[in-house]
Amino acid sequence: MNLSGKTEVYGIVGFPVKHSLSPVFQNAFFEYLSLDAVYVPFEVKPDSFKEAFLGLKALGVKGVNITVPFKERAFELCDLSDEPSKVIRAVNTVKFTDRIEGYNTDWIGFLRALRELEKELEGKKVLVLGAGGTAKAVVYALSREGCYIYIFNRTYERAIELARNFSAQVVKKPEDVLDDADIIINTTSVGLSDDDPPLFDYQMLRDHHIVFDVIYRSTPLVKTALKKGAKAQNGLSMLIYQGMESFRIWTGLEAPVSVAINSLSDYVLS
Ligand code: ATR
Repeated sequence: MNLSGKTEVYGIVGFPVKHSLSPVFQNAFFEYLSLDAVYVPFEVKPDSFKEAFLGLKALGVKGVNITVPFKERAFELCDLSDEPSKVIRAVNTVKFTDRIEGYNTDWIGFLRALRELEKELEGKKVLVLGAGGTAKAVVYALSREGCYIYIFNRTYERAIELARNFSAQVVKKPEDVLDDADIIINTTSVGLSDDDPPLFDYQMLRDHHIVFDVIYRSTPLVKTALKKGAKAQNGLSMLIYQGMESFRIWTGLEAPVSVAINSLSDYVLS
């Protein structure tokens, strides 16, 4: 990497951010396309977010990804934002020009990754596990595709709130609709560790199910689904696709997915 006075700076803002894989593949994109640019992690304490975020613009940083827990606060600080982020009320991509432009590419990344498992989404019954920030982008994408959406969340009130905004149906427990669901999507952090208590009895999965987990490792949910003959995938492709879309917004260029996959081969958890 050759840094110079002209090198453009991009990055990711979050807390924590040390585990992020975005710097790995975004820098691989810059290198592959011979761009004089670098992508760095910015770990920002929640108390300092506003100061840090506005400081990025003052410093001439060209663009950042925003991750947990700042997506909603970043949205509020943008001068303009795209239509999906207005509905989701969160941004994961910011471009600094003379103004602060906010975008949401999580929903695009999710949809592109899900389509690798199932092309025809219209009319499909989808059980979404979780009602946090990621669930909002997922439910937005599914509702655009004309899916029928069930939402389960540990905190019931949060599920109600999300369902109200997208005309989805809240369920008290996943088992209530499992047989009826075509697609099951985990947006919670359950599965980050193999020791996490499961969200439901995964042995109930059947080969007609399509399972998508936003966590980018092979979670017990994904492993059991595959054992049962279902189609299943973790969240790595969603991560890459949302990042490719961010890259396109910043540079106007298409980054090849193979470059991201190669760059991540040493990092991805099994
Ligand atoms: P993100 O932006 O990654 O979605 P979030 O907004 O904090 O993060 O949402 C986390 C989601 O994981 C929520 O749906 C949360 O459920 P609650 O609303 O009840 O907090 C869910 N979650 C986290 N830990 C969980 C656990 N141990 N069991 C069940 N759900 C859990």
